[in-house]
Amino acid sequence: RPVRPQERRDLVFKFLVIGDYGVGKTAIVRRYTEGKFSSNYKITVGADFCVRSMMWDAKTRVSLQLWDIAGHERFSYMTRVYYKYAVGCAVVFDITRHASFKSVIRWVNDLNNKVMLDDGSQVPIVLLANKWDIGESCVSDEAINKLCKELGIPTWFKTSAKYNLNIDEGISKLVGEAIRRT
Ligand code: GTP
Ligand code: MG
Repeated sequence: RPVRPQERRDLVFKFLVIGDYGVGKTAIVRRYTEGKFSSNYKITVGADFCVRSMMWDAKTRVSLQLWDIAGHERFSYMTRVYYKYAVGCAVVFDITRHASFKSVIRWVNDLNNKVMLDDGSQVPIVLLANKWDIGESCVSDEAINKLCKELGIPTWFKTSAKYNLNIDEGISKLVGEAIRRT
């Protein structure tokens, strides 16, 4: 049965990508929106955003704004304005750099202090353990599970922006959650 025009819906969601400097936030956003990867590290100043639209199902078009937030400490004072109106958040760490895993708590607290959904609940989070392809993980699955439990994060993925592993899955998790709440 064809979808009638009046049944169609166009949804626009703003998602954030946060986490320490150098963990691969820009690489994830570029991979997801442009299908590209570069090995060069160019730090993000302030924030950038990229968009991607897709048909989620036969009657739902989703336009995503992915906000790629600078991880460097010296930009942290400006994040509040970028967080506004976000309805989903990918928190990223580098699975080969333990300090970036330790920082996840700080990023989640920062998010929850600065933004919430219209109904006052917390912005849904997915945790991405990036650079999985390097194969030198210094964070165990148990440690990640434990942290997710403590922080109330329902899902995490091992990802690679370089080889496009689990990037779509991670973002789709947030899209599904955002749609569920519309
Ligand atoms: P800031 O903008 O400073 O907050 O950093 P960022 O989180 O945006 O990091 P960025 O995406 O610029 O990546 C940092 C470096 O890690 C770059 O050299 C990337 O090429 C590299 N990188 C990112 N993702 C991956 C990955 O999945 N695998 C590998 N091997 N390298 C990656
Ligand atoms: Mg960046």
